[in-house]
Amino acid sequence: MPPLSQNTPRLHKKSRRAYNLHMLILAIESTCDETATALLKTTPQHHILAQHITPQTQHRRFGGVVPEIAARQHLANLPALLGQTLRGQPQPGAVAASCGPGLIGGLITGASAARALALAWQTPFLAVNHLAAHALSPRLAWPELKFPYLLLLASGGHCQTLAVSAHDKFRRYGQTLDDAPGEALDKAARLLGLGWPGGPALEKHAATFQPENPQQRRDALALLPDPLARRGDSDGDGANLDFSFSGLKTALARKVNNSPAASVDTAALAFAFQERVMRSLARGAGRALARFRREHAADTPLLAAGGVAANRRLAALLSEVAVRHGAEFLPLPAGLCTDNAAMVAHAAGERVRACGDGEPFPDDGFCTPLRPRWPLDAGAVA
Ligand code: KG4
Ligand code: ZN
Repeated sequence: MPPLSQNTPRLHKKSRRAYNLHMLILAIESTCDETATALLKTTPQHHILAQHITPQTQHRRFGGVVPEIAARQHLANLPALLGQTLRGQPQPGAVAASCGPGLIGGLITGASAARALALAWQTPFLAVNHLAAHALSPRLAWPELKFPYLLLLASGGHCQTLAVSAHDKFRRYGQTLDDAPGEALDKAARLLGLGWPGGPALEKHAATFQPENPQQRRDALALLPDPLARRGDSDGDGANLDFSFSGLKTALARKVNNSPAASVDTAALAFAFQERVMRSLARGAGRALARFRREHAADTPLLAAGGVAANRRLAALLSEVAVRHGAEFLPLPAGLCTDNAAMVAHAAGERVRACGDGEPFPDDGFCTPLRPRWPLDAGAVA
């Protein structure tokens, strides 16, 4: 066996390996409570050869993600997932992992496994920003989608509207001033005793609210306030593009805690909460789309990514918003909205592809620090 120094990939200089059109990239996702692996072939159009995911159900009884349990579960889940994803496949030419933003224990677990494999195989390692992976995921679903496009990124930890101009170029239009929408939905579901993760549980329960007439629907909606309603309703240059969900959450908590349990109509409240969150997201996306179109004159569709984008009511509202602006809304498949490793492999592939065929590989990511906070643009709150 050659000495270790010969075996170790060059850590600080550009890898001598060249990008080749048919390379395989193995990716690991472990930023929160999904352990996931994927294998992507960078044929002219990215193609996912295999992907596996283990959602961590262990957090259910705590009503939220417990960071240490998450890290331990990633460690327990990864060997089997890697085995399944790599079974029968040739050795990958590069390994990628989400290196932030996320829970540090999970980042360490996933990135260490990925780096160990890259060292053993002597391949480059690509450190991927999890938010960039979400933001680029529409181009995995629709390879013909061109930059720039306007994206609503709404998940359990983040909320922003972004102009995505290249695989590494993002401009933020609006962001949440406090909670992320997924976080608010999770807390609301917990308050209403609906289980976890809250977004899908609340969506299901909201569907059981069956008003007998439009007035009942309006009355239910009036149970909770419209976030940032007083900040105007314009789509013009001065429009407020930000989001806020903590006041809504507090209003729900007051309603639930200050009423006798028997009198709490959980279906009406689930409907009202979901409606307020989704209308607010759609309004912010519409305003950002108006500004994006003024600035870019680009005739591109409206896109949404992140776990909350799996919500069907949000998709319906975004379709309406897009039509108002003469655009189309393209809904991502739900499995690509929530955390997954295919989007991480795709983001790594986008970076590699930007080098061009036969060009040196992008810098190895062995020395890239793991970052619990890693904003996509300088002005953004991670
Ligand atoms: O993107 P994601 O899987 O993880 C983060 O990066 O945060 O998003 C998870 C969030 C959770 O808060 C979950 O409740 C929410 O996405 N979510 C949904 C739906 N499916 C997942 N929210 C609303 N409706 C859904 N169908
Ligand atoms: Zn995510």
